[in-house]
Amino acid sequence: MPNAYISGTGGYVPEQIVTNDDLRDGYGIDTTHDWIVKRTGIEARRFAPEGTCSADLAVPAARKAIANAGLTEADVDMIVFATLSPKHAFPGDGVLLQEKLGLCEQGRFIPAMDLRNQCSGFLYGLAAASSMVQSGMVRHVLLVGGETHSAALDLSTRGRTVSSLFGDGAGAVIVSPTDEDRGIRGWYLGADGRFADVLCQKVWDMSKRPFFPVPEGREGPGRVEPEMMWAHMEGRQVFKNAVERMIQVLVSACWDQKIDLADIDLFCFHQANMRINQMVAQTMGIPEEKLIHNIQKYGNTTAATIPLLLAEAEESGRLVRGMKVACVAFGSGFTWGSAILDW
Ligand code: UT7
Repeated sequence: MPNAYISGTGGYVPEQIVTNDDLRDGYGIDTTHDWIVKRTGIEARRFAPEGTCSADLAVPAARKAIANAGLTEADVDMIVFATLSPKHAFPGDGVLLQEKLGLCEQGRFIPAMDLRNQCSGFLYGLAAASSMVQSGMVRHVLLVGGETHSAALDLSTRGRTVSSLFGDGAGAVIVSPTDEDRGIRGWYLGADGRFADVLCQKVWDMSKRPFFPVPEGREGPGRVEPEMMWAHMEGRQVFKNAVERMIQVLVSACWDQKIDLADIDLFCFHQANMRINQMVAQTMGIPEEKLIHNIQKYGNTTAATIPLLLAEAEESGRLVRGMKVACVAFGSGFTWGSAILDW
């Protein structure tokens, strides 16, 4: 069985920079730069222009990852797309990306799979992609995490707790086989469905007839009420569980891999809140210099945070061949995961 490794990385964020002051001055949100920085570490985020979906953001990220792997689009055998902000209810963004990359024109009707594991989506995708590569059934999997949150944020004072956190972007990696002694050594995933309501966006409810609610005293096909359009988050509960689960899943990974935390050269934590990551690092005695962040400039880009981190770290020379890397994520579901990689 070959090892599966990340042979290429790429990232893309839209041009428009929205600072914390822009949230206040441009959108009229009652907030301050200091409040957001103090609680989250976020200084700015990117917003995609109208007419752009997550698959559009994924195109340049995917192209960079493919080129970085020394491949062409025609070498990709499968697409795995992790997002919580797909363009439509269905089909998923994986098929949109396949078409946008020009694969259909080339007669490359490769499988395209969507994953809905929110902030843990990239690590769930890495587990799926590496297993498929190791099985020998596919060679090069294009794994993408991409989000366009800005379309679905309540950019008003009412929604400030959630809307100040999220930004748009995409990160991509290529997962390939190798006979070398390197690659994705193990992945560790978990979920706790008891917390499904604590962080969610319930635009519709397929258990109801009709699946959009009908306002009281009215008849008809139903309609989306504003509170159904935006994400609901019980922030403190998410924070507390995130710290606990991230520690647990990182310890499990080290235990299973028979390595010490000190053996890890670089920690790529999901970027939900810098304070969550600092608390995990402090609790575990991880030195600050081994942690990398992009939340200051991009906010929480959900499924895109880890592949964006990897792409930027590789591009800047912070992440080099031979390093041992730990990726850890936690998010809606609750879902969580970790992966240990020899780069
Ligand atoms: O990918 C996973 C997604 N999410 C997370 O991991 C988030 C985890 N949770 C958190 O990071 C924190 O809970 C937040 C940063 C979201 C919020 O911090 P908090 O310390 O839990 O604040 P809070 O929600 O308890 O709100 C405290 C106060 C409230 O005002 P009152 O009721 O005390 O007057 C909020 O209305 O802060 C207010 N507030 C804000 N003020 C200025 C909430 N958001 C803002 C804001 N600007 N953006």
